[in-house]
Amino acid sequence: MRFDILSPSPVYLEAYLDACRAAWGKVHDSYIIHNPAAFPAWKETIFADYEKQRLGISLPPGIVPSATFWLIEQANEPVCLGVLNIRLRLNETLRRYGGNAGWFVRADRRNEGIASELVRRLPELFERLEIQDDILLTCCEKNIPSRRVLEKMKGAILKRAVVEIDGKPTAVLRAVLPRNRQIA
Ligand SMILES: CC(C)(COP(=O)(O)OP(=O)(O)OC[C@H]1O[C@@H](n2cnc3c(N)ncnc32)[C@H](O)[C@@H]1OP(=O)(O)O)[C@@H](O)C(=O)NCCC(=O)NCCS
Repeated sequence: MRFDILSPSPVYLEAYLDACRAAWGKVHDSYIIHNPAAFPAWKETIFADYEKQRLGISLPPGIVPSATFWLIEQANEPVCLGVLNIRLRLNETLRRYGGNAGWFVRADRRNEGIASELVRRLPELFERLEIQDDILLTCCEKNIPSRRVLEKMKGAILKRAVVEIDGKPTAVLRAVLPRNRQIA
């Protein structure tokens, strides 16, 4: 599976919009994507908003700085396969549930190994972002595809816990990948 992990750029804005259309209504509740119907509004602010998120400017309470990447397949027309959001540091809430990364893959390209490949490339991305910490990934136990991705992470320590999400006790998995090991 070949794709580039790129910072959002106007060159790929249409491809990103298409990915949002292809995933709208088909992402886990914990992941927020842009509403394709509101494109005329968000296209004006998306890059400034991403920059503010990265630099931690005007973030709501409890939200940590994060960097967003678009997964781009370079075909005749570039295809945005999905989105990755990396939290640059963790707070207590994210340590319980949320972890360092959130992502989605467009619904018409799932089960092709894209998320598995993405996770394999996370250590290299952490290097690029100069994040020193171990990598923490979490998912709801019931989210089978995400769970499979976490279970396949070589070298990761996997733990189950029950945490409160939206007021309900929920079984979650946490995978911690120490930074001095690589995913094979
Ligand atoms: C979770 C998600 C990112 C997985 O992406 P993906 O590219 O389809 O994942 P992969 O192709 O690498 O597959 C990973 C594993 O899940 C399995 N899988 C994929 N889709 C599945 C499905 N619908 N049901 C059961 N297993 C599934 C695959 O078979 C694979 O397991 P295997 O290697 O043992 O065969 C994608 O389903 C998605 O975008 N979901 C909505 C957003 C979301 O839930 N994000 C995570 C929370 S932040």
